[in-house]
Amino acid sequence: ALARALPRDLAGLRLVITAGPTVEDLDPVRFLGNRSTGKMGFAIAERAAARGADVLLLAGPVALPTPLGVRREDVRSALAMRDALWEALGSDLSAADALIMSAAVADYRPAEERPSKMKRSRDAMTLDLVPNPDLLAEIGAARADRAAQAATPERRPVLIGFAVETDTDERVIAAARGKLDTKQVDMVVANHARDAFGRDDNRAFLVTRDAADALGVLPKPQLADRILDRVVSLCRPEAP
Ligand code: CTP
Ligand code: CA
Repeated sequence: ALARALPRDLAGLRLVITAGPTVEDLDPVRFLGNRSTGKMGFAIAERAAARGADVLLLAGPVALPTPLGVRREDVRSALAMRDALWEALGSDLSAADALIMSAAVADYRPAEERPSKMKRSRDAMTLDLVPNPDLLAEIGAARADRAAQAATPERRPVLIGFAVETDTDERVIAAARGKLDTKQVDMVVANHARDAFGRDDNRAFLVTRDAADALGVLPKPQLADRILDRVVSLCRPEAP
């Protein structure tokens, strides 16, 4: 309702939004991926641009059109998304007012990417994987370092994470609280894998240090607006 009353309430805010999966190549033919389709991140980008924000969308491989008024950059792997993120935020994190990290970043990548196609054999096969960096936690840590050095604690950019789990509501919220602290972010949007992936709606919780707000089932554009309402109040705590 507020979004409709104040359609340009994000004017002047620079948002970086990540969306979709990252995919990790095994060879020129095959990859490791996940079920993210990018609908949530694209809905956030679409609503943010409609509300007047300057939006950069960093997208993994998805089959979605670029929302109106949104600048889009496509990436493939977690490491490529990491480079694009630091480029977009600036090494001192000054180039964005908020980061909304809705991408399903791969936790592992193959230890080696083979230059030519692996051939079939009758033997069992084991894949060697190595951990990817936690992109959001790196940015959270960098913001905390900067705040520790500054005379006035700097909360920019506002950092929003996601947490997707396969568990009870209570444990999903508890896991999101854990991610608030380990990643040093301002809010985590917690949801269930079964409610989230590939769907046009989602049942999510907005989890902060003091509260977990159950939003119920909402179409993704409406959930996007609720997330953006929080981004506005985190970016402009002095405003009414
Ligand atoms: N994330 C990230 N870099 C990674 C993995 C996740 O930046 N390598 C971000 C996601 O974009 C999301 C948040 O961290 O905003 C939480 O992702 P999630 O997969 O739920 O949590 P993980 O920390 O990866 O923990 P786990 O998968 O074990 O639950
Ligand atoms: Ca993960």
